Amino acid sequence: MKQSLLVKLSRINKIYHTGEIALQALKDISLEVRKGEFVAIIGASGSGKSTLMNIIGLLDHPTSGKYELDGQDSSHLKEDTLAQIRNKKIGFVFQSFNLLPRTTAMDNVAIPLIYAGLSRSERMDRAKQALEQVGLDDKLASHPNQLSGGQQQRVAIARALVNNPGIILADEPTGNLDTKSGSEIMRIFERFHKLGKTIIMITHEDDIAKHAKRVIRMKDGQIWTS
Ligand SMILES: Nc1ncnc2c1ncn2[C@@H]1O[C@H](COP(=O)(O)OP(=O)(O)OP(=O)(O)O)[C@@H](O)[C@H]1O
Ligand SMILES: [Mg+2]
Repeated sequence: MKQSLLVKLSRINKIYHTGEIALQALKDISLEVRKGEFVAIIGASGSGKSTLMNIIGLLDHPTSGKYELDGQDSSHLKEDTLAQIRNKKIGFVFQSFNLLPRTTAMDNVAIPLIYAGLSRSERMDRAKQALEQVGLDDKLASHPNQLSGGQQQRVAIARALVNNPGIILADEPTGNLDTKSGSEIMRIFERFHKLGKTIIMITHEDDIAKHAKRVIRMKDGQIWTS
């Protein structure tokens, strides 16, 4: 059966203005991602990968074009609605982990649940479960600086998954990790892909991209299909 469309970008352009200079970071991008796909986006530095990801994640607006997420046109939504959709539907994973430093793994993971109206003990239960799923049940009370890079990224993945979002957006999730930690992260992503999650992942590395089922190549703000 054909899976339904989750992401539909139609003729998306993004122009950044810095002083007098205008830079077109995305040029007429059209792209469809179906529910349950595992997609990698690769391309040279500056080719527009993060710009594209930020638009897909509703963190930034396109200059022109239409973006529908889960059948909903996002162009006229207000910031608080966008924030709600992000919190409910999207889990973000970044190259630099973005964990709060003076906060335990469990409290870091529980942050997205604060907006879900759960009690503290429910939040802690859910955070613990999410950390167990990434193999960190022995590090619940550790602070980020007491964890290796790979472990910190697994905390960030647990945080991305704790609200049970349908889509995971990862911008170079293995960029700061050694090969072994990178493979562990890919095993976790593959497991979530098998559970039906949609994953869109940016990477520089062909070895990482090959874990995805579809590879999209970007060059100079455009998508190249070879
Ligand atoms: N906020 C911004 N203001 C102005 N120009 C920007 C901004 N963000 C990105 N750019 C420019 O847009 C282009 C695309 O940047 P983007 O960050 O999307 O590239 P990337 O493919 O993610 O690169 P990398 O692999 O280095 O992360 C680059 O030329 C960049 O300098
Ligand atoms: Mg980038």
